[in-house]
Amino acid sequence: ITNRTFTMIKPDAVANGHIGNILAMITNAGFRIVSLKLTQLTVTDAQAFYAVHAARPFYGELVEFMSCGPIVAAILEKENAVLDFRTLIGATNPADAAEGTIRKLYATSMGENAVHGSDSDENAAIESAFHFSGREQF
Ligand code: CMP
Repeated sequence: ITNRTFTMIKPDAVANGHIGNILAMITNAGFRIVSLKLTQLTVTDAQAFYAVHAARPFYGELVEFMSCGPIVAAILEKENAVLDFRTLIGATNPADAAEGTIRKLYATSMGENAVHGSDSDENAAIESAFHFSGREQF
């Protein structure tokens, strides 16, 4: 079944000049770009986007990092998009990420891990709507 996932290229990877290489890996893996923009989260935006993690000890650090600079937000479409994208990005901790994954290549730490990928179809829809209007989805 063709479906969609949501991704962000995080501030570390944008600052380190990896936007082009990461988008190339995504399109070479067969994902179609439905929506795409360079943007920056406010602290309030990041708190809301990561509200599910509000009780975690790393929440403050996560919110501060995700609002510290520009990100690339995108909606991606492919067969089995959510699971296949999580395979392409690799484990949350880059030390555990498989060879050839985006995080193995470009992440620096558990917090500054280069990319986000939705963990379910339901969250992909919620996260996509957070960043993009219907008119921005192609
Ligand atoms: P992501 O899965 O995109 O969304 C939640 C983020 O929280 C996750 O990426 C990591 O970047 C971050 N995260 C998870 N665990 C930790 C941790 N132990 N310390 C700092 N950040 C974390």
